[in-house]
Amino acid sequence: MKGKGFGLKRDIVVLFFMAMLGVMLYGKISHAEEILSIEGKVDSKGVLLSWNYDSESKEYRIERSNRSSGSFTVLATITGEKNGVVYSDESVKTGKTYYYRVTEIRQDGTEIESQVLQILATLRVPSGGLVKITKENKVKLTWKAVKDATGYEIFRSNRKETGFQSIGTSKQTNYEDTTVKSGKVYYYKISAIKKNKKSLTSEKSDGIAAYVSPDAPRVTGTYNKKKMKLTWKNVTGAEQYYIYKKNSKGKFVKLGETTKLCYTDKNVKKGKRYEYHVVAVYQKDGKMIKSKTGVCKTMATTIDPNKKMVALTFDDGPGRYTQEIVDCLKKNDAKATFFVLGCNVDAYQKSMKNADKIGCEIASHTYNHKNLTRLSAAEIRKEVKDTDAKIKKVIGKNPTLLRTPGGSFNSTVRENVGKPIILWSIDTLDWKTRNRDKTVSAVVNNVQDGDIVLMHDIHKPTKEAALILIPRLKKMGYQMVTVSELAQYRNWQLKKGTVYYRLRKKK
Ligand code: NI
Repeated sequence: MKGKGFGLKRDIVVLFFMAMLGVMLYGKISHAEEILSIEGKVDSKGVLLSWNYDSESKEYRIERSNRSSGSFTVLATITGEKNGVVYSDESVKTGKTYYYRVTEIRQDGTEIESQVLQILATLRVPSGGLVKITKENKVKLTWKAVKDATGYEIFRSNRKETGFQSIGTSKQTNYEDTTVKSGKVYYYKISAIKKNKKSLTSEKSDGIAAYVSPDAPRVTGTYNKKKMKLTWKNVTGAEQYYIYKKNSKGKFVKLGETTKLCYTDKNVKKGKRYEYHVVAVYQKDGKMIKSKTGVCKTMATTIDPNKKMVALTFDDGPGRYTQEIVDCLKKNDAKATFFVLGCNVDAYQKSMKNADKIGCEIASHTYNHKNLTRLSAAEIRKEVKDTDAKIKKVIGKNPTLLRTPGGSFNSTVRENVGKPIILWSIDTLDWKTRNRDKTVSAVVNNVQDGDIVLMHDIHKPTKEAALILIPRLKKMGYQMVTVSELAQYRNWQLKKGTVYYRLRKKK
């Protein structure tokens, strides 16, 4: 209580003196004819003095002293410029206090003096700020070193001018901000700091803007009534979406722009494949920021997401019956997935190309059909890599899915295959029964939406079963789709090393 009372008394005393000072100053100004008013601050180079230009001026004399009542030394004599006069004193020592005086010398010889301006030459303001945004959406800031600084403090805001808050410090002239979000804009300011007996902090630098790209849109293409409808989910920060389509020369041509979450391409032909790119964009500070490209490879086939679908899969081929199955699929507007062995690919390139052409999926069943659980990590990776190479040579693209031989896997297998592992929900046991009718009924008696059916196209009864099964399933209202399509239409995002048995509708 005692302290508080004293403080109040002190405040009154301070106020009294301020009032007195005001009276004294007022008196002085009223006596003097004119006074030159100067301002000063520390910028990136040193002390920057500034004042208004007077059209009657001939030149200005800038003087500096180390003491408040000390002898002034002339630093320079300069002529003014109409839009304001500035003088930069770069010779100041960090931490020292200086006193400045500027004298205007008029054309008629009269001199007008400024007040004496006291400035602490604190740390210079950081400059040369640059921003780089990495692929992983981290913001990397760099700036020029400030003389005598022992570190830097980094401030961030979502607004250009206000709201800056400290987010960290750095001893180097760089800082990585890993907390940014896609599709957002951040502004940074840096101040230099010196930790010593007497700590110093510079003014904050100019703002450095970082425009973080939106995420790539995940695009789905659905063909219906001679149109391809592209749809995607809203991407944070996106104001608009640009749609591109690959032309016959392999070049992407812009189809249009939209603020909606869909786009319809009417220029499509049934049975043909198309590739679209969708890019999310936003504009800020006169700049256009684009997302990474959302890729949609799709085929103009009629898949109705609201109708039942099943994925037929054929393992251990390609073989001499593969082509007949492909022909039957084509006739019935159906598709299947072939989990092929790398060692069989060369002998049946034509069948594989045909299967790919009608939209079937070529997936990996490893090179030699070895039990992967008995192999080392390196051997597993080699089985996958060699098969990828064989498939790519024939159809021009790597398989994205894998089925392990015998469906066996362990943690080493899961960690090293580098693809989603697709097993099955209906085992026809065709390899065991080698019986056409048993194979057919194993499917038709059990099939449900989202099932994955296991068969082997290297057996003749399986081929015969397929020729019955494909039109039968169609009649039952099933759409025969590839495993990737099934995942797409049933909203599964397949992950590397994860095992899938069925792909039912995800709630
Ligand atoms: Ni197999």
